[in-house]
Amino acid sequence: MKPPESNYTIAVILGDGIGPEIVGAASTVLKRTAELDNFTVELIQYEAGAAAYQKYGDPLPSPAQAGCRQADAIFKGPTGLPDVRLPDGTEAGVLGGRLRNGLDLYVNLRPIKLYPNIPTALANRQAGDIDWVMVRENTEGLYASRGNGIVANTGQAATDTLMITRLGSERIIRYAFEEARRRNRQKRVACVDKSNVLRSFAFFRQIFREIAAEYPDIQTDFLYVDAAAQALVLEPDRFDVIVTENLFGDILSDLGGATVGGIGVCAGANIGDQHAYFEPIHGSAPALAGRGVANPLAAILAAGLMLNYLGRPESAARIERAVEQAFLDKAVVLRPDGSAESGTQAVAKAIHSRL
Ligand code: IPM
Ligand code: MN
Repeated sequence: MKPPESNYTIAVILGDGIGPEIVGAASTVLKRTAELDNFTVELIQYEAGAAAYQKYGDPLPSPAQAGCRQADAIFKGPTGLPDVRLPDGTEAGVLGGRLRNGLDLYVNLRPIKLYPNIPTALANRQAGDIDWVMVRENTEGLYASRGNGIVANTGQAATDTLMITRLGSERIIRYAFEEARRRNRQKRVACVDKSNVLRSFAFFRQIFREIAAEYPDIQTDFLYVDAAAQALVLEPDRFDVIVTENLFGDILSDLGGATVGGIGVCAGANIGDQHAYFEPIHGSAPALAGRGVANPLAAILAAGLMLNYLGRPESAARIERAVEQAFLDKAVVLRPDGSAESGTQAVAKAIHSRL
């Protein structure tokens, strides 16, 4: 968290598909929050993502790169479209590698929290029962191979290599322990790995034990990733902070999302020592785009995570409370396809009026 300022410059990437609609909705909530708490946010838009790739041949053109580096924080809508692909078959518009590795944003923080009146996929769970945060390593693991996969044997085989480093592990694990202290809830960090099978994960777990020794006030828990997938469904109240490798964190955060009403209510923060960006964790949902039906809550909650990072925890709490109140009042009803019953604008208004 940074020290608070009275003026913030935010680089905004609207994104593809439903991106412009939900980022627009979240921007009105962000501006209103700033107004109520007596500071200003200047939002500067940059073209980036699949549309930018189609137009310029680069999903992150240099104005966006420079703007992101200069800003106090980056607010990003979902980018990428299923049909816009690189010659190697991967999606051209996703910015994960460019921003996360380019800006060394090694923490991917994803709160998984069940709000009131949300129909959860889990029986007998209520608001308060599920409240944990994923601390996903964001720069290495299996995704260290992003853009570097190898197709061998004259096209008959392909490999991606999982890489776990000491530095990368130490810093993400330390962040997880600090996060458990900041949250001050169960004060427990779960290490999720596959150290029963893979050497790289035994290495990660060893480093986890070393760092844990620096935090005698925080409890530890150890789960193999397969068992963790089950536990997140059967005993979600066991979790406070989870730290894990990049791909495992990617998968388990969506699984967590399913337990709290879907990833349409899940926001993520990508944080490094110098820069950070904030985004809904869902994709660009092209099928919903342009219809005014997309649910902007994940983007709105991402704005809250951003304000917390910018040294404005009371403003972040204001947004979270407004979302909670909107659910309590049944002012927001979500549909299974990721849309909101009343539409994008109505959801934004429901939050705006409860700030
Ligand atoms: C996420 C996404 C990205 C990832 C994709 C879109 C590149 O799934 O942020 O969770 O792989 O990390
Ligand atoms: Mn994902």
